[in-house]
Amino acid sequence: MSSTVLKIAALAGDGIGPEVMREAIKVLRVVEKKFALTVKITEAPVGWAGIDAAGKALPDATLQLCKESDCILFGSVGLPDRDPTIPKEERPERAALLRLRKEFGLFANLRPVKLPKELAHACPLSKERQGDGIDILVVRELTGGMYFGQPKKTEEISGGSGKAKIMRAIDTMVYTTPEIERIAHVAFRTARLRRKKLTSIDKANVLENGVLWRDVVTTVSREYPDVALEHMFVDNGAMQLMLRPTQFDVMLCENMFGDILSDEAAALAGSLGMLPSASLGAQSGDRAFGFYEPAGGTAPDIAGKNLANPIAQILSVALMLRHSFGLNDAAAAIENAVSAAIAAGNRTGDIFSASETNARKVGTREMGDAIAAAI
Ligand code: IPM
Ligand code: MG
Repeated sequence: MSSTVLKIAALAGDGIGPEVMREAIKVLRVVEKKFALTVKITEAPVGWAGIDAAGKALPDATLQLCKESDCILFGSVGLPDRDPTIPKEERPERAALLRLRKEFGLFANLRPVKLPKELAHACPLSKERQGDGIDILVVRELTGGMYFGQPKKTEEISGGSGKAKIMRAIDTMVYTTPEIERIAHVAFRTARLRRKKLTSIDKANVLENGVLWRDVVTTVSREYPDVALEHMFVDNGAMQLMLRPTQFDVMLCENMFGDILSDEAAALAGSLGMLPSASLGAQSGDRAFGFYEPAGGTAPDIAGKNLANPIAQILSVALMLRHSFGLNDAAAAIENAVSAAIAAGNRTGDIFSASETNARKVGTREMGDAIAAAI
C-alpha cells in the first residue's frame, strides 16, 4: 500500500469546516509519516465558500477534483442566515451536498454513535440508562426516498379573483427493491462485524414504502442467519433510543428516518462534535468510493473562534482510511489517539463539565495537537 498515492479531495466548506479540517489534515500528516503512506491532499471550495470563489455551491473545478480523487474528505456546508434571495436549488445543502451524494452514488451512510466512558457526564441520559455503554451504528440509505423522489414541487392549486391563494407542496417517497436490497446488505455485513443484531426501522403500519422495506429486508436476512433481525416502527424506535439505547447494535433506516434518528442517537454520544460519518458507493473488492464528513454541521455561532470540537472530522479521517483504502491499522491508530486524548482530560467546550476533576478545557487547535501527539 505504501507505494500508492492516496488522492484525497479536501472540501472544508463553511462555518467551522475550515478549522476542524485543518486539525484533521494535521493528524493525517502524522499518520502518513508513521505508516509510511503517500497522501496527496488537494483542497477546494464548496458551499458558500464555493459561491464566493466561483459563483456556485459546487464549482465545476471542485467537482472535477472529486472525480479525479480516491475519496472526498468533507467539512460542512450551509449557513441558513446567508442571502435568502439565492433559490433553494442553488443553496449549498441541495446544490453541493445532495448533488455530491447523488453524483457519486453514495447510497450507504454509516453513522457510528459511541459514548466514551469518560464522557458519561455529557450524555443526557441517566447513568442507569447508559448501562454498559452506548455503541450504535446507524446505517442510513442516502440516495433514495423522500429526498430525491419525483414529483417534488410547490404549486398553486387555486386562487384567482379575490380568493386567497392555496398552495400545495409535494414530496414523493419512493423506493425500489434493488435500492432496499443493497443498503440491507451493507447493514447485515456491518452487523456481522459487530454484535450481530440488526434493527430495521420502518413505518409499515402506514406507508407502502414501509411494507416493501420490511419484506425486502426480511428476504435479504435469509442470507445472514447469524445476524438477529428485528423490525421496529420509527416512532417506537425514536422512543426506544431514549428509554433503552443499549438494546441497539445496527439500526437500518431509509433516508428521512435515518436523518432524524441519527441526530437523536448523536445526542446520546454527548455531542454532535464527536460523530464522524462515511457515505459509500458501490463496493469494488473491499474498497468503496467514499465521502467522509462530521455529522455536526457548520455551527456558525462558534465558527472561527477556536471553540469547535475537531474530533468528528478527525474520526472521519479514520473511517476514510478504513473504507476507502483498507488501512485498518492506520484507522485504529487515529481512533486510539482520540481515546487517549480524551482519557488524558482534553475537552472542547461541548464535552466539558466543571464537575470533572481531571479535565481541562481546550480549543480546536489544542485538541488537534493532543490527538496528533498521541498517534
Ligand atoms: C445530514 C444533514 C443533511 C441531510 C442536510 C444538511 C441536507 O442533515 O447529513 O444529516 O438532511 O441529509
Ligand atoms: Mg441530518
